Amino acid sequence: MIAGSGLLETLAPRIERAIGRLPRRVFVLTSPAIWALWAEQFCASFREPPVTLFLQPGEKYKTMASVERLTREMLRAGADRGSLLIAFGGGIVGDVGGFLAAVFMRGIPYVQVPTTFLSQVDSSVGGKTGVNLPEGKNLVGSFHQPRAVFADIGVLGTLPERELKAGLMESIKAGIIRDRALVRYMEENASAILGRDPKALEKVIAASIRMKAGVVNKDERETGLRMILNLGHTVGHAIEQATRYKALLHGEAVAWGMIAANYIGRKRGTISAAQFDRLERLIYLYGPLPALTLRPARVIAATGADKKNVGGVRRFVLPLGIGDAGVVEDVTPAELEAAVRYMLVRAGESRR
Ligand SMILES: NC(=O)c1ccc[n+]([C@@H]2O[C@H](COP(=O)([O-])OP(=O)(O)OC[C@H]3O[C@@H](n4cnc5c(N)ncnc54)[C@H](O)[C@@H]3O)[C@@H](O)[C@H]2O)c1
Ligand SMILES: [Zn+2]
Repeated sequence: MIAGSGLLETLAPRIERAIGRLPRRVFVLTSPAIWALWAEQFCASFREPPVTLFLQPGEKYKTMASVERLTREMLRAGADRGSLLIAFGGGIVGDVGGFLAAVFMRGIPYVQVPTTFLSQVDSSVGGKTGVNLPEGKNLVGSFHQPRAVFADIGVLGTLPERELKAGLMESIKAGIIRDRALVRYMEENASAILGRDPKALEKVIAASIRMKAGVVNKDERETGLRMILNLGHTVGHAIEQATRYKALLHGEAVAWGMIAANYIGRKRGTISAAQFDRLERLIYLYGPLPALTLRPARVIAATGADKKNVGGVRRFVLPLGIGDAGVVEDVTPAELEAAVRYMLVRAGESRR
């Protein structure tokens, strides 16, 4: 895993170093818009340009149908067990590309070159790959580790502001659950980070990756510790589901989810009132978050905590001070409702 500047223009030798030698057939999965912006830099270091495969942007193409089409395109272009796939794009390209590499002829090596902030700090690390079904997101997939990840800070230059800010919410999460120094750095350097100062971005990206890789290394298959990465995600996913994935970007929904989780933490005393204020301020510093109007019952139902489920186990990640978090299974319906109500009041006041 390497994060830094100037990686894109020097990919071929870097990949060669990472995997031994460059295979005869190299494929790159990307989206047309990203390729239009970055193909020249991407291809600069390859003697023979890789075979390009395209995925249109959007969750609606993160499907088995896309994977089937892409495997067939690869076969027609002469791919075999020794081929290499490079996933060059955001989290969608990374998840589809990783899954494609996992199932193509029972598995070929792949490399991630993430191009969104979110994919650089989060989705390209950890080896989770997969696609959506009409029944829900990420329901088919596999654990398939990339052979290398190259996070080039330069490619973030063309990323829309809203995507950058949404991705930064995952770094705030990283700080809250494991890295106090990252929390402080993000508090003190918001203008450099949002101004895309390469040094500042590199610092945040490296710290976020270090945190995730450290947790994943201890618990690759998510049997315990890895769950803390889901801070803000119980309510965040519920918001995404209740708004049919249309109103907010993932990181924005997670931000509202963290606000709800922090609220439960404050009420239980796992964080102090001062820590609660500090975390909320940090989240808003990287806003504004888009406003949200939803009925509390809708969000609560989407957490799987509706009346049918009251006796069931519902896992919740809570902050324990700043830089630590824990998983609890005893959040009561009343606690959840109070937190969701609080969050929705703040979300209703927010400006778009
Ligand atoms: N595997 C994991 O562990 C994991 C973790 C978190 C999220 N994810 C998945 O990641 C996906 C979301 O990823 P995302 O947030 O990166 O969104 P995305 O892949 O949809 O990319 C967002 C948009 O930005 C555009 N884009 C990407 N890079 C660009 C650049 N450098 N310049 C200009 N435009 C650019 C894309 O074309 C797209 O339109 C979800 O499907 C989610 O399930 C996976
Ligand atoms: Zn997330």
